[in-house]
Amino acid sequence: MADKKIQSTTGLMGWIDARFPLTSNIKNHLTEYYAPKNFNFWYFFGSLAMLVLVMQIATGIFLTMHYKPDAEQAFASVEYIMRDVFGGNIIRYMHSTGASMFFIVVYLHMFRGVIYGSYRNPRELLWLFGVAIFLCLMGEAFFGYLLPWGQMSYWGAQVIVNLFSAIPFIGPDLSEWLRGDYLVSDATLNRFFAFHVIALPLVLLGLVAAHLIALHEVGSNNPDGVEIKAKKDKKTGIPLDGIPFHPYYTVKDMVGVVVFLIVFAVIICFAPEMGGYFLEANNFVPANPMVTPAHIAPVWYFTPYYSILRAVPPVMNSQFPGVAAMGLSVMVFALLPWLDRSPVKSIRYRGTLYKKWLALFLVSFFVLGYLGTVPTNVWGQLGDWSNGIAIIDTKERATWVARIFTAIYFAFFILMPWYTAKDKTLAVPERVTY
Ligand code: HEM
Repeated sequence: MADKKIQSTTGLMGWIDARFPLTSNIKNHLTEYYAPKNFNFWYFFGSLAMLVLVMQIATGIFLTMHYKPDAEQAFASVEYIMRDVFGGNIIRYMHSTGASMFFIVVYLHMFRGVIYGSYRNPRELLWLFGVAIFLCLMGEAFFGYLLPWGQMSYWGAQVIVNLFSAIPFIGPDLSEWLRGDYLVSDATLNRFFAFHVIALPLVLLGLVAAHLIALHEVGSNNPDGVEIKAKKDKKTGIPLDGIPFHPYYTVKDMVGVVVFLIVFAVIICFAPEMGGYFLEANNFVPANPMVTPAHIAPVWYFTPYYSILRAVPPVMNSQFPGVAAMGLSVMVFALLPWLDRSPVKSIRYRGTLYKKWLALFLVSFFVLGYLGTVPTNVWGQLGDWSNGIAIIDTKERATWVARIFTAIYFAFFILMPWYTAKDKTLAVPERVTY
């Protein structure tokens, strides 16, 4: 929406407007920013992502007041926060549960973008900023996870940083540079603290600002995938299917915020560790470089990609193919705007071919996510329930399942230009529906 120069001339607002474009910004971005009138449930998650971002920063500031980024003191300082700091346990659980909630909200937000084709022209850059936010968020979670200096923090970082050494030529130097030492140590903890507390949050905030600027430039998509700017009132120039963001969507978003906060409070009060999915039992044991835990697994939000890493076999003793596949499995989302050749945006008007592929992708995402949480020999331990398929070593069975679903995961993207072009679509209405 083009910026209009609107000023108040009287009172405090007049004084401010003469010095700062407050009234015109409120109008351009809230009261006269027209959003499609058919937003549904899926449109809660953008504002919720902003809420969680603010909560993570606020709780993070309070944690930093008591946390000690020192290998000798870090674990104890977290225990001190949990036991002795007034309200410390709530703040810490808000932050640790908040990390998982952030990923839940962002995954749902991305899924909405996928089903309604919100990444398509003219929203490609908005989507790319989103993908950059997602990468940054993954880095933020990874660096933050080392800070409590528990067994899983330590060994998780050890495994992931070692992966970088699989990159040809620069790998070994790169992983040493990341660690600041030959193994994860106090130097690593210090730099991860700096990344987690200042570097990445700054980048994240900048990217979110760019994301919202891009959104307001092109306008929101909607569940019909109809461009509301195409049909405007001739006199006012207001989109016929648009309603002012404020008060309509500020009020609607408040409903989402209240429901979200209730769910969030229930989790924090009754299941902050979520059975080991949000906080792992092994992380309540101080880091010990001499004792490797029997099973090292990342937090749930990384497990689909971790599964892909484990599914790809090494080539000539190099783990690089697995590392590359893992990297690609995340980066590939950036290509969606150019892979999708469908004449329609929203899933409402797509045919069954696309829907089947999307369902297959979802199933593979969840299966890979599950497999990433368990050891690769998970079904080998169940005994001889499947002698019929003895061609595959019992220990290898989960790896083979992961391989099949990794293939489906990538096929969803690689074959997209073909099946989206071939799919039989429905006619898209001229105006939005409900
Ligand atoms: C910190 C994380 C994020 C924040 C705070 C954020 C915020 C927002 C907000 C407030 C909106 C408008 C409201 C809505 O449409 O729900 C939005 C829209 C959008 N976001 Fe995000 N976002 C984040 C991450 C992402 C990610 C990771 C992606 C994709 C990879 C993404 C892609 C999009 C798209 C495509 C839209 C337009 C949707 C439409 O108009 O249908 N965002 N975002």
